[in-house]
Amino acid sequence: MKNWDQFLSPYKQAVEELKVKLKGMRKQYEQASSHSPIEFVTGRVKPIASILDKANQKGIPLDKLETEMQDIAGLRMMCQFVDDIKRVVELLRNRNDFEIVEERDYISHKKVSGYRSYHVVIRYPVQTIHGEKKILAEIQIRTLAMNFWATIEHSLNYKYKGQFPEDIKMRLQRAAEAAFRLDEEMSLIRGEIQDAQAFFTKKKEQQENT
Ligand code: GTP
Ligand code: MG
Repeated sequence: MKNWDQFLSPYKQAVEELKVKLKGMRKQYEQASSHSPIEFVTGRVKPIASILDKANQKGIPLDKLETEMQDIAGLRMMCQFVDDIKRVVELLRNRNDFEIVEERDYISHKKVSGYRSYHVVIRYPVQTIHGEKKILAEIQIRTLAMNFWATIEHSLNYKYKGQFPEDIKMRLQRAAEAAFRLDEEMSLIRGEIQDAQAFFTKKKEQQENT
């Protein structure tokens, strides 16, 4: 029987710290009044039940979780446009507070399910009273459309336990295709959208200053 509180505590700390840090990147763009490639950031520690399920499925012994399960600490960075994703990845590569151990590009190579996202696995140092402890964390970077699809697919996956009926599978594939086209359409009118967003930000600032 594992001492979960003790095991998960550095992961909890890492997720809290990384949320502050990654949200801070967005704030800096706001302060500079330039388009932020980051729309919003979320983070979570994987629930114990999900850790056990995944360990079971993948045949990971519980004493190897630290090295073999990369997403016990998970962060998500949502972007408006597909092109923002590589800017965010570049920002992550340039940081000095963690080390990137792996990148997985499910945008150039989408999964058969239709899933698209860019995954960056980092080794993050947590400061504890017993000294520094490095943990693995997975950062998923995706557009709002990719996130919408993945969220819906995830809940259906939960409902059907991964065994989708054929009609649902087909609809999910069509939805993935629609999300892809939505991203493409948004990219094409990116300039217009950003002009409008900059206009409204400016107007809001003027109103706040009067
Ligand atoms: P895991 O063994 O689960 O880690 O999968 P993997 O190693 O083949 O792929 P990866 O680690 O890059 O993806 C893991 C995470 O990506 C999952 O925990 C999900 O958050 C997300 N993900 C991957 N594939 C899918 C998918 O088909 N649908 C959804 N909704 N999410 C996915
Ligand atoms: Mg994985």
